[in-house]
Amino acid sequence: MSVSKPHPHDAAPLHVTGAARYVDDIPTPANSLHLAFGVSSIANGHLKAVNLDAVLCAPGVKHVLTAGDLPFSNDVSPSPSPEPLLAENTVHFVGQPIFLVVADTHLNARKAARLGQITYDETDAILTIDQALAADSRFEEGSRIYATGDAREAIENAEKTVHSVIEIGGQEHFYLEGQVALAFPQEGGDMVVHSSSQHPTEIQHKIADALGVPMHAVRCEVRRMGGGFGGKESQGNALAVSCALAAKLTGRPCSMRYDRDDDFMITGKRHDFRIAYTAGFSADGRLQGVEFKQYTRCGWSMDLSLPVADRAMLHADNAYYIPNMRIESHRLKTNTQSATAFRGFGGPQGMLGIERVLDHVAHALGKDPVEIRKRNYYDPAARQKTHYGQRVEDFILHDMTAQLTETSAYDDRRKSVADWNIENPILKKGLALTPVKFGISFTLTHLNQAGALVHVYQDGSIHMNHGGTEMGQGLFQKIAQVAASRFGVALDRVKITATDTGKVPNTSATAASSGSDLNGMAVRAACDIIRDRLAAFVADRAQVDPEKVSFDSGLIHVGGDSLPFEDVVKDAYMERISLSSTGFYKTPKLEWDRIKGQGRPFFYFAYGIAATEVVVDTLTGEYRILRADILHDCGASLNPALDIGQIEGGYVQGAGWLTTEELWWDAKGRLQTHAPATYKIPACSDCPDIFNVALWEGENTEDTIYRSKAVGEPPLMLGISALLALSDAVSACGPGYPNLDAPATPERVLDAIERVRG
Ligand code: MTE
Ligand code: MOS
Repeated sequence: MSVSKPHPHDAAPLHVTGAARYVDDIPTPANSLHLAFGVSSIANGHLKAVNLDAVLCAPGVKHVLTAGDLPFSNDVSPSPSPEPLLAENTVHFVGQPIFLVVADTHLNARKAARLGQITYDETDAILTIDQALAADSRFEEGSRIYATGDAREAIENAEKTVHSVIEIGGQEHFYLEGQVALAFPQEGGDMVVHSSSQHPTEIQHKIADALGVPMHAVRCEVRRMGGGFGGKESQGNALAVSCALAAKLTGRPCSMRYDRDDDFMITGKRHDFRIAYTAGFSADGRLQGVEFKQYTRCGWSMDLSLPVADRAMLHADNAYYIPNMRIESHRLKTNTQSATAFRGFGGPQGMLGIERVLDHVAHALGKDPVEIRKRNYYDPAARQKTHYGQRVEDFILHDMTAQLTETSAYDDRRKSVADWNIENPILKKGLALTPVKFGISFTLTHLNQAGALVHVYQDGSIHMNHGGTEMGQGLFQKIAQVAASRFGVALDRVKITATDTGKVPNTSATAASSGSDLNGMAVRAACDIIRDRLAAFVADRAQVDPEKVSFDSGLIHVGGDSLPFEDVVKDAYMERISLSSTGFYKTPKLEWDRIKGQGRPFFYFAYGIAATEVVVDTLTGEYRILRADILHDCGASLNPALDIGQIEGGYVQGAGWLTTEELWWDAKGRLQTHAPATYKIPACSDCPDIFNVALWEGENTEDTIYRSKAVGEPPLMLGISALLALSDAVSACGPGYPNLDAPATPERVLDAIERVRG
């Protein structure tokens, strides 16, 4: 059977040879046009005068559009709150699109876009969390609260308490392929759009609204993205809608892509957070009550900020049973890029809050943080209920912790790190081991559905399509493995095809790590319908029970005979049996009230655990990750090679977020770290020198596709161990608690060293 085998990514040879086709590689006719935005240079104010004469006269320019030129809706928002494609009277961040240039080449469009003469009535910008709080600038009135028990009372009665604040920076997605779209006008006003999007249905929907046509007049196709990481759930809408508008206006194919700096300036990033905490605990380190205040900087438009902030609240427990907990969440509106989905979707920030608490508690008690963590894990003995009412039902983290502690030689290394730190005054080492428990399902319950379309052609080859998109994570290969397994044929018989709103409609974004869970089940359903028809056909012919027909090794076994799959298919076709089917799946058991914060938002949890060792140069604050050991739970893995790839990539991306990736806006709200020269994502040389990744042997207790678990996002949060290892190294410099903010750049590490020395 094809599932559970480590097949390489289906497009790996294409990726490495440069033959993989991305949107910008699609051949276009010579008369195609190219677009670029003219953007705001201020963070907040009114448009006083927009003079575009110089833009119109620039070489190659065909059209320049402003909000008033748009025929129908001027809205690219993924949420109920509007988000104009082009600014109407006001601008809300540096980089906001004001006008759209349509020109003969990409370069001419970009050059012309700089020639707009715009005067503004500038008002003070709200940039920081403090400024937003002072101005009461929010997306939801007041704050949202999820609570269980009485946290205040539990803290007051606790033997010991800690309280502090952690600042957590945002993160640029830095997908290798920037945002891009390409529209081909069709007869009768229809539109075909290629978009680098995780959410083709939303592209279709937004274009239909912008063109004033029904959704059936628009088709969106996505073969692959060169990375999305959440940054292509909503941020591609503006480009795709622009291309469709310009294509309709000119009758010519139109394409648009952001260069890297534009992508940084215009698109949203991970939400930065401030988390204030107070925790009450017993002398042996058991948490009794925890209060969190989560301040979320959402940027100028609502985008996906509400569900992101919800998910942060839902992960404020991580793996720990906290009998009394109160989380207050503030969704703040600022004059910065619209913060958006990013791998983990708020979960990482919420989880970092509680990991920081446990680290602080262990420091306060002078105990090993691993002991304190284990003591607080959810466990079967009346310590199962989360703060939102869902029960934890599998407790594998205890065994996973035991296994990783063993394989990473945690205890010995804790001792050798301590010895090293006694002997070495300058270079200090740190070690941290942190778990992950991540909830799988969209918290917007209706999104947990998927469709598929499978054709078996008369030669026995199979065409597979579903609503998921491929962004490098290997979803298409995993689902092809499912299809091949259902029919018992070799993987090369299954054709992977581009996501297409004309084939499978009303899809959810490929997000929340649920791509293979949802689409795998939908494809399975479609395959099984066809398989049952084939089984009924051969069973009837052989006069046996259809239940006794089986499919494997490219053969169909019936009543002692083994017939080649393609022969049966040919015969079935001749007998006029339908060889095509749709499939559908919706996740069971979900029941969630987001206003009350109660219910079962998640079908199940995915687990992981990581131990990271670092060394810090206490003279400069520079550091290296020396070693990382990871044990991660993918249930019964659909494809161990792809899963290990997701785990390695997730860990490194998470460690990058918390260490070197720093976004920095100046006092006027201009993002100054908008290119790789100033924004440092991890390079190959930043990977841990020793990097051991293993998969937990187990299977999902819930009935998922072949009992696998989602893997896309959870491993990112294993990177929290890198931040806490740095904190541990800093602790070796003095008696104080490091209070290390993220990202822990060398400057912050140096500051923290001075702080602990007191
Ligand atoms: N892996 C790669 N290589 N590229 C990506 O863009 N996105 C991540 C994760 N892994 C991403 C990735 C995010 S944010 C999500 S939600 C999941 O993949 C989406 O895919 P899945 O649901 O199929 O896991
Ligand atoms: Mo992932 S942040 O859910 O696209």
